[in-house]
Amino acid sequence: MLILGIDTSCDDTAASVVENGHKIISNVVSSQNEIHKKYGGIVPELASRRHLEMIMPVVDEAMSRANAKFKDISAIAVSKGPGLIGSLLVGVCFAKSLSFVKKIPLVAINHLEGHIFSIFLEEKPEFPFLALVVSGGHTSVYKVSAFGQYIELGRTRDDAAGEAYDKVAKLLGFGYPGGPIMDTIAEKGDANAIVFPRGLLKESFDVSFSGLKTAVLNHVRKYPESKKEDIAASFQSAVIDVLIKRALACATENKLKNIVLSGGVAANSALRKQLVKKALDQDIRVYLSSLYLCTDNAAMIAVAGFYHFKNNDLADFSLNPKAFLPLGSANG
Ligand code: KG4
Ligand code: ZN
Repeated sequence: MLILGIDTSCDDTAASVVENGHKIISNVVSSQNEIHKKYGGIVPELASRRHLEMIMPVVDEAMSRANAKFKDISAIAVSKGPGLIGSLLVGVCFAKSLSFVKKIPLVAINHLEGHIFSIFLEEKPEFPFLALVVSGGHTSVYKVSAFGQYIELGRTRDDAAGEAYDKVAKLLGFGYPGGPIMDTIAEKGDANAIVFPRGLLKESFDVSFSGLKTAVLNHVRKYPESKKEDIAASFQSAVIDVLIKRALACATENKLKNIVLSGGVAANSALRKQLVKKALDQDIRVYLSSLYLCTDNAAMIAVAGFYHFKNNDLADFSLNPKAFLPLGSANG
């Protein structure tokens, strides 16, 4: 069974054809990095305009690389949220039109559900598992008992981890997108050079990254001669420390022996290495996706689409995107 996945939730226009919920037949991602680079961050209006230009060529390319015809496609799965509303609108409107014209069933996917299920393109973790979703827009920990059954155990109260990476990279003059650049520069620095605050909230499993961001700003102002590599490494150490402590505490409390790491920040080399090592000490297994499946893509949307379609959970043409869409909520 072939599912066509479409994702335009943020600044990548993506389409993919996936067979039986796990085998990638084609996977096309058109990045907008060059457009947003000069502004040091994503400009929502420019993002949606570029999606408009790219959605048709990207879907065409995914279909032709898959050597597929629309009659071969069992369902079209599209991200309905969360994300930038203008960007989401392009994908949702396109998917609805295609579904109408080609008479192909439509499935609406929560983008975060896609991130969690991207692992099924490469491995098959056993339920229940803990999902740590760390991206530019989200940082949450979920207990995943089965497909469609999610309980949020903790979340960020302010900035997402990726957002903190991007803002600190901008502050240090590293350019955009900040996460991957910081990852490389941090390798050359001393992670113990500066002790930045760890935003671990006491009364819950929630975390916070805005204090860390301010601490970096204050440090740069106070010690302008401080080595940027050391600042990057010390910042990264604080972020990773918080994420790993939270994930392991949630896993232990909920007796979960598998952790699935996903979202753009899951591509971070230090986070991957340290999480695997520290989890192993507690006899917990960590599932990591290949780097190209951590960041936004439509193959992960097609995987989630496969399970929704099998459950006959179809969308109709009243489907509208939602910028705010918590996973596990009534319509999430
Ligand atoms: O999942 P994603 O592609 O888009 C969202 O749904 O937000 O995540 C993008 C985020 C950006 O903030 C980017 O800086 C961050 O993931 N990122 C990284 C790395 N690669 C991407 N952060 C840290 N280290 C990386 N290697
Ligand atoms: Zn994402």
